[in-house]
Amino acid sequence: MAYSLSMAVLSVPKPTTTQTYSSNSTTKSIANFSSTLSSSSNISRVSLSSDLTRRSSSVSVLRNKSSSSAVSIVAAAKSKPEPLRIMISGAPASGKGTQCELITKKYGLVHIAAGDLLRAEVAAGSENGKRAKECMEKGQLVPDEIVVMMVKERLFRPDSQENGWLLDGYPRSLSQAMALEDFGIRPDLFILLDVPEEILVERVVGRRLDPVTGKIYHLKYAPPETDEIAARLTQRFDDTEEKVKLRLGTHHQNVEAVLAAYEDITMKVKGDGPKEEVFAKIDSALSELEQKKISPVSTNV
Ligand code: AP5
Repeated sequence: MAYSLSMAVLSVPKPTTTQTYSSNSTTKSIANFSSTLSSSSNISRVSLSSDLTRRSSSVSVLRNKSSSSAVSIVAAAKSKPEPLRIMISGAPASGKGTQCELITKKYGLVHIAAGDLLRAEVAAGSENGKRAKECMEKGQLVPDEIVVMMVKERLFRPDSQENGWLLDGYPRSLSQAMALEDFGIRPDLFILLDVPEEILVERVVGRRLDPVTGKIYHLKYAPPETDEIAARLTQRFDDTEEKVKLRLGTHHQNVEAVLAAYEDITMKVKGDGPKEEVFAKIDSALSELEQKKISPVSTNV
């Protein structure tokens, strides 16, 4: 991701050591940058663009070994904000996956869907996959010992740490929320999609998936664009009226406990309007959150 750093450097006579007040990879770049400086003495202004692996601001103090006086440096680092960490929750077919498509498109977050991770295990035919499938067919929660580590491992991968994450369908119980807290993981925002039950059933039975693009369709509300796509659409094994009622029961048993864990950061969004309207509300909250995370540094040393 492009990063631009602009530094105003005032009289730098051969800097040789660097002290840096930040512990991230921006530090490394500034250290590299300072070694470039040591071979050019009369630099008054330097602009640096780099593809950094972390987003943070850093201010360095360059000292001249031959004289102990600190060199004046004004460093103004303009960086991307810390990435967003968002959870999205809601009853089956409330539109979590649909909103996640729109959110990731705009915000570039890593979409981590607990249901998709589980379906991948099922498809792989692993022991965990077999156990997961039994629960999913009954509309029950898959046991924590399978789900928690799966989600944690994905959250800690470099792309999630770097770009931020959008966790979809996790946590679904208090114990799952607590497990994340124990790992030091807490989101910036917990979005709950609120949709009346009669709409949910209609959405589930009409849902279809494109195995090629992963895109979510609905026979009535979001039909496929071409006959070619229509011909290859698939239906999830748990997308029947009978199974969605079981899934809804499980959701109702757990939702209050999960909400209690994130009470202070919960945003309830009415999810029964057109998907663009629902997204507009989420988008506005995320933009505001992103703005709050931007805090430019400008320091005189
Ligand atoms: P999961 O795959 O997460 O299923 P779910 O929670 O039941 O949610 P869905 O994926 O069915 O719906 P969605 O909210 O994403 O809706 P979508 O956008 O697709 O979990 C499946 C199972 O895995 C669980 O039952 C459980 O067994 C297990 N599991 C998962 N997570 C677990 C965990 N943390 N712990 C333990 N077990 C776990 O939309 C649905 C349809 O509606 C689509 O056709 C779409 O086009 C349409 N639609 C969406 N928005 C709109 C709109 N605004 N207007 C009109 N139509 C719309």
